[in-house]
Amino acid sequence: MDNHISEAIGRPDLVDLGNGLVCLRFETMKALSALAAVRHLCDTGAVRPGDTLIDSSSGIYAYALALACHRYGLRCHIVGSTTVDHTLRVQLAVLGAHLEQMEPCSDLKLDQSRRVRRIKEILRDHPDYHWMRQYHDRVHYLGYRAVAEMVAEQLGGARLTVVGGVGSGSSTGALAHYLRGHAPDTVLVGVQPFGSVTFGCEHVADPEIIIAGIGSSIPFGNVDHTLYDTLHWVGFGAALAGSVDLLRRHAVFAGLSAGAAYLAARWESRRAPERTVVFVAADTGHRYVDSVFARHREAADVDSLAPHRAADPSQLALPWSRMEWGRAPAPEAARWPGDAAEVPGAAPVA
Ligand SMILES: Cc1ncc(COP(=O)(O)O)c(C=O)c1O
Repeated sequence: MDNHISEAIGRPDLVDLGNGLVCLRFETMKALSALAAVRHLCDTGAVRPGDTLIDSSSGIYAYALALACHRYGLRCHIVGSTTVDHTLRVQLAVLGAHLEQMEPCSDLKLDQSRRVRRIKEILRDHPDYHWMRQYHDRVHYLGYRAVAEMVAEQLGGARLTVVGGVGSGSSTGALAHYLRGHAPDTVLVGVQPFGSVTFGCEHVADPEIIIAGIGSSIPFGNVDHTLYDTLHWVGFGAALAGSVDLLRRHAVFAGLSAGAAYLAARWESRRAPERTVVFVAADTGHRYVDSVFARHREAADVDSLAPHRAADPSQLALPWSRMEWGRAPAPEAARWPGDAAEVPGAAPVA
């Protein structure tokens, strides 16, 4: 039995979709990561009951951190972007989390840097607050160790390819880090939206909406570029086709980043049928009912889609591109100036 709902919400299911494709399906992926990070901070005495944790979020992490604070008797202060919707705002209020929502801003880079500036102002007035830094602190890797253990145990012996959207980089980075302790030949495939600086695609904009939660306009310390073998860039229309097909063919109701990962995973599975391809579905489809699922009639047939092969970032093109990354370091514009931290107290799965 769980001691708190956050444990249940963060625990994923592994669903065999057939033909070597496996869905690692979360209700709210970051609940697990925030819970383990906050537990680590409490255990090491870095924070104590009653302390305030603060971070910036576009939505899913705000909810996860509010749950973790509720679990451990801490206060929660979120500087949120306009993507924090009504449902989440109401839940955060009832959970006792303090949300400061920024004014609307169409420029993602400006929005991200404005939120960081606001956090620094708050920390100046409240130096006792603990800044979680979900994008940069490797403490956010810890929660995925148990997931890697579950994957290793349930798919024991299979040659694995992991496919997932890269936002902060914690989920895919941590899964590869921990799984490679158990199975060193685990392949890692990252999925990005067009326009993201993280793997050098800032020069190709997606004319439709950005896929929430993945990609970035600024460098993130938690992305370890040297873990990734292959990258896919998926535009909104192709991700929509993936999300609709995932629901129609497999009855999995998941978000847009999951649809993009599913599309990439199908492709990787066909290229390497001897491997088991596990893709991450980070959230449910509820937030995307109008923008994605209601448009199901206009979804392209996924079998008619294929990625454009890019030899380097200058060749990336809509609606879908694939490039061998070859565990290369970060491109100049995505280089995090801080230290590349170790994952605290966490060995790979043996
Ligand atoms: C829906 C969704 N998919 C994928 C991700 C990427 O996860 P990570 O930050 O671990 O790279 C996020 C992160 O916020 C997300 O919200």
